[in-house]
Amino acid sequence: MYSKRAIGVAGLFMGGAYAQSGLYGQCGGIGWSGATTCVSGATCTVVNDWYYQCLPGGPSTTPSSPPGNPGGGTTTTRTTTASGGSATLVPGYSFIRAVEAPNFHKYLQSEVLTKAGDAVLGEPTNAAQFQIVSGQLVQSAAGTSLYAIVEPRANSTVVKLKVSWSTTAATSGTFTWAGDTLEWSNPSISRPQNNAWLICPDAQNHLDLYVNLGPYSYMTPAGCADETIHAYTGQTATA
Ligand SMILES: *[C@@H]1O[C@H](CO)[C@@H](O)[C@H](O)[C@H]1NC(C)=O
Repeated sequence: MYSKRAIGVAGLFMGGAYAQSGLYGQCGGIGWSGATTCVSGATCTVVNDWYYQCLPGGPSTTPSSPPGNPGGGTTTTRTTTASGGSATLVPGYSFIRAVEAPNFHKYLQSEVLTKAGDAVLGEPTNAAQFQIVSGQLVQSAAGTSLYAIVEPRANSTVVKLKVSWSTTAATSGTFTWAGDTLEWSNPSISRPQNNAWLICPDAQNHLDLYVNLGPYSYMTPAGCADETIHAYTGQTATA
């Protein structure tokens, strides 16, 4: 009886300015216009300027606005010219980049540019452009489409899944945006949060992208860095 009543109260606020984010949900950051408080038992925690997240523990709180975003909304105060930037962004597409050390403003692309193969972060000048179409993350690659493929999970001890580009679409998993944050989910794989990614350099120091099956920034696999990755819709990809 009591829980029914609680759900009713929560429902009253859903979609309103007072809705609260669930555990591991987003609760702030540049460009975020959704809930800024967390359900009871979770604390809104600054992961980076672009991503605040409801993590277990503590009371519901509201961190202050991120720096450089006084008016709210998706903005960049940087007005650098295209020099050093990439090709101009095609309308409807986004660049995708990391916003935290050690991969700050490294951009998603193919290891061999515009080709099928490993998904990596790299320099802004080589930034690829993306759309999410029907749950597929699609790279516009020199006139063809490349689809992001997340490798299958071999067994329950596997904590990260490699991402690669293919000329054929993925047959499992769904990419989505949460605000400007890229998420991936698969109903057959239980994860604490869908926005956790890892960058694990390979032997040639290419910055390979993996889905992190564990929580963000906790028990990080050796040699990897935790990242959230984000759409960027500036005219060109710049550092
Ligand atoms: C789980 O899969 C990984 C990756 O294929 C493999 O290296 C490991 O030996 C497997 N472990 C078990 C317990 O099957």
